[in-house]
Amino acid sequence: MPQNTWVQTSIYIIMGVSGSGKTTVGQLLAQHLSLKFLDADDFHPSENVKKMHTGIPLTDQDRSGWLRALNIKIAAQIKANKGCVIACSALKSAYRDLLSANTQGQITWVYLKGDFDTISKRIQSRKGHFMPLSLLMSQFDLLEEPTDAITINIEQDPDGIIREITNKTMMPTSEFGLVGLGVMGKSLSRNLAQKGVRLSLFNRHETGTEEKVAETFISEFEELSQAQGFDDLRAFVCSIAAPRKVFLMIQAGKPTDDFLQKIIPFLSGGDVIIDGGNSHYTDTKRRMDTLAAHQIGFIGTGVSGGEAGALNGPSIMPSGNPNDYALVKPFLEAIAAKDVSGKPCCAYMGPDGSGHFIKMVHNGIEYAEMQLIAEVYACLRYINGHTPDQIANILEEWSQTELSSYLLSITVDILRKKEGDNSLIDYILDKAGNKGTGNWATVAAAELGMPATMIGAALFARYTSSVRTQNLYSRSIKGVDYITLNSIKNAYSAARLLNHYQGFELIRAASSEFKWGVKLPEIARIWTNGCIIRSALMEELATILQKDVHLLSEKSIQDRLHHTYQDLVNVGMDMAKAGISIPCHLAALDFLNAHTHYLPTAHIIQAQRDYFGAHTYQRNDDDSGTFHHTIW
Ligand code: 6PG
Repeated sequence: MPQNTWVQTSIYIIMGVSGSGKTTVGQLLAQHLSLKFLDADDFHPSENVKKMHTGIPLTDQDRSGWLRALNIKIAAQIKANKGCVIACSALKSAYRDLLSANTQGQITWVYLKGDFDTISKRIQSRKGHFMPLSLLMSQFDLLEEPTDAITINIEQDPDGIIREITNKTMMPTSEFGLVGLGVMGKSLSRNLAQKGVRLSLFNRHETGTEEKVAETFISEFEELSQAQGFDDLRAFVCSIAAPRKVFLMIQAGKPTDDFLQKIIPFLSGGDVIIDGGNSHYTDTKRRMDTLAAHQIGFIGTGVSGGEAGALNGPSIMPSGNPNDYALVKPFLEAIAAKDVSGKPCCAYMGPDGSGHFIKMVHNGIEYAEMQLIAEVYACLRYINGHTPDQIANILEEWSQTELSSYLLSITVDILRKKEGDNSLIDYILDKAGNKGTGNWATVAAAELGMPATMIGAALFARYTSSVRTQNLYSRSIKGVDYITLNSIKNAYSAARLLNHYQGFELIRAASSEFKWGVKLPEIARIWTNGCIIRSALMEELATILQKDVHLLSEKSIQDRLHHTYQDLVNVGMDMAKAGISIPCHLAALDFLNAHTHYLPTAHIIQAQRDYFGAHTYQRNDDDSGTFHHTIW
């Protein structure tokens, strides 16, 4: 793991109205931390002191020279790598800005909070306090409570206050932070801890439902014994050595934006946030820009592999600024799955939201792979009449061949799962859900003008399952009572090739449109292990793509499609005749038909467009590219 070379400079400013106990607390804290104590009042020019003694409130102008002098003192302490504790009222946010100018977030603000009655009683009981009570009210009028300070209730003894401050401002000892202890966050935390990373973990506090989640989780796993758990965001951030690396595993969309707004005030320039959720790639770019304005790095990364992958090694698809990536690379590579040659299944994908785009297409390919397997099941169950156990045996045999994949292997397990004497699959409601990435992939394909027809077919198959009207009219299955296993296998094999082709071409188009310069062979390589679409085919494609070719122009792929084409036709026709929906195989067949025969149809579209809208067309006997119009 990278060594922490960051030097902690502890500048504490104890703020609050006069009488809140700043000097007492400041002196005690300085003593406790062996730091120098400074009373900001000692830096007032004599005119200010005179005004205060005569009961005249100070103006902002009176204060600005004083605050600037203090700021210079603070900057000098930081430069000399020396900490200090300063007692200073710092009532307005503008005063605090003056005090903290150019201090790179190295000030810890402690706000001593008390109400007027409590503080006025304290002042009255003090002998020799030079501030008349009438000024206290003007201080309360001036007070703008800080949002980024440790807030301490002054109604406790000074020792209690010091304890609370030190508890909340512990020295940063963690080298990596992780936010969001859902299923994926928990597994990634354990994976990081197993690699020897000193971790801070944060989960939000929701009274009654999510309380002390991080602490409880840490206590459950031996490997987390060195980790620190928090539900106080400020304390979490303070526990991580700068430049901080904080991995978010929280819900994509608004919750991610809301969380960023909360954490930004606690971060410093140079820190890097990594978003590991399934975020939309345009959101990732927007967030990068927002955080860059605060000098905070932002890496958007796809993480695939589900719960087990996150624990044992996921496939990781990061993108963003290369310098920010360099800071987090050792951590991401350490937890990633390894490919056959032992290299991490984690690689820098490119700038902006390219990592999340690639993860989105991964999920699109995943949707189509899942749908194809479901359609194979439909053939074997409803045409050939096999039981779930028999289908599991067939798919298990396929798993020993070039069709081997993670998704195929889990389907074998699924089909063997029993509830009592029956197969569990027969009790599962026939309505497919989704969390949106297949939808985004389909929309992105449409926006980029790319025919990712199989991703679209798989997505719409899920939607159809949720909205279809059952028993629209009854129909008996006619015409087909058996399809050979070899045909089903070949059709499935052809369709998978086309699914992967469409997915990689979608990424290629995005990379060219957005100038990302992504490397397709590297994407295929990091998808060979850890992720949901890992397969023998992916290993083959990782090698083929190194030749910088379109998959359909590769001879071995062409041969395979040529060899399996007729089976794809037969399965498509038989299933259609039997009235069984297999949209993904049919999308594959149709895509292949469009690619394999030059039998024009789009010329009719062009002529129609020109007829009703004078949209013009190009001619196949004019290679100048000129657009023509006909008065039809
Ligand atoms: C992965 C998965 C993961 C998740 C999908 C599920 O790569 O680990 O893709 O990201 O399982 O998002 O998506 P749906 O709920 O839309 O099927």
